[in-house]
Amino acid sequence: MSETRHLSRAHIHLDRLTHNLRLLQNLVGARPMWPAIKANGYGHGMELVARHLLKSGYDTICVAHISEAVVLVDAGLHANYLLLSATLPEHSEAIVAYGCEPAVCTMEMVESLVVEAEKADRQISVHLMVDTGMGRIGVTPSEVQSFLAQCQAFPRLRVRGLMSHFPCADEKDKTLSHEQIRRFQGLAALARSCGIEICHLANSAGILDLPGSYFDAVRPGIAMYGLRPSREIANPLVNELKPVLEWKTQITMLKEVPVGVGLSYGHSFHTTQPSLIATIPLGYGDGLNRNLSNRFEVLVGGLRCPQVGRITMDQSLLDVTRLRGRVGLGSEVVIIGRQGEAEIGADELADILGTINYEIVTGITHRVARLGETDNGT
Ligand SMILES: Cc1ncc(COP(=O)(O)O)c(C=O)c1O
Repeated sequence: MSETRHLSRAHIHLDRLTHNLRLLQNLVGARPMWPAIKANGYGHGMELVARHLLKSGYDTICVAHISEAVVLVDAGLHANYLLLSATLPEHSEAIVAYGCEPAVCTMEMVESLVVEAEKADRQISVHLMVDTGMGRIGVTPSEVQSFLAQCQAFPRLRVRGLMSHFPCADEKDKTLSHEQIRRFQGLAALARSCGIEICHLANSAGILDLPGSYFDAVRPGIAMYGLRPSREIANPLVNELKPVLEWKTQITMLKEVPVGVGLSYGHSFHTTQPSLIATIPLGYGDGLNRNLSNRFEVLVGGLRCPQVGRITMDQSLLDVTRLRGRVGLGSEVVIIGRQGEAEIGADELADILGTINYEIVTGITHRVARLGETDNGT
């Protein structure tokens, strides 16, 4: 078969994923880790990551939506899928059919799940989300007891878990997080007295910086991918995480351009000297944010080169003048990753855009091929 794959590729280093998982697992000990692979595995390729996790022995995996679990199960990747986002009764039939465990926070959702479980002659397990401070979804702490009491009326329903989430665990000031842990401890005691088996709270920042937040299971996301939850994480182990994703492409055209020539849409860049300009087949359609235009560098031949002109949907331009005679068609260009001694991290692009590394990697679109790799080349 002739090659048709897109020339923009995300290389997913699976042995680095294993390294990061081990590092996090060492922190939490024997407790189960339930990795988060929502949003296409934070851009790393949901199926690729799920396959690796299952092979590595992880049996419970967090996604946001039933649609994500459906893709995974239909691909033969059978696991216990925990659905993190609140949803509506229209999804209940599929949630029951696919045996997923949703986070719930409304009686409407519980009742519709029970109706579908009865129709299918199955049990449904759920996790009650309690809002201890996140302010996004969840019942209030004072509602937990009555919610659990109402749930006991449904023999088809098993409330398997009590869960909550941190909004500020990645910040230096841990006051709110400690207060959340304290609240959750009280709620966990209550939940256990109602027969709930598993109480879970910690995300990556909790795992790294808040050992008191581990409870019965943890839900790591960003750290598993080798990225720091923020620069304010105190645990020095954060420096031992290895970025799993590298984003690379190749030069598809090279041209000598005289001084004073406008390049790309809007002519936002004009050459200030005779320049060697390279084209790469990568644009905002691939997740390269247009607001990065004229504001970031890539690696070519082990050196930093500026991107110039507007990023377009499919193609962008680089000034590779300093590499005259040392680049050609097909030369490798690194957007995120390492080349020789040089390295560009997702944090660098995030800082330029005033966002977080999560958004940079998650924003890499489906058009970019995800290639699973190991550093020893297998
Ligand atoms: C409910 C919940 N748990 C766990 C995570 C994982 O968080 P992180 O990627 O910060 O580790 C997320 C991600 O946003 C989440 O929404």
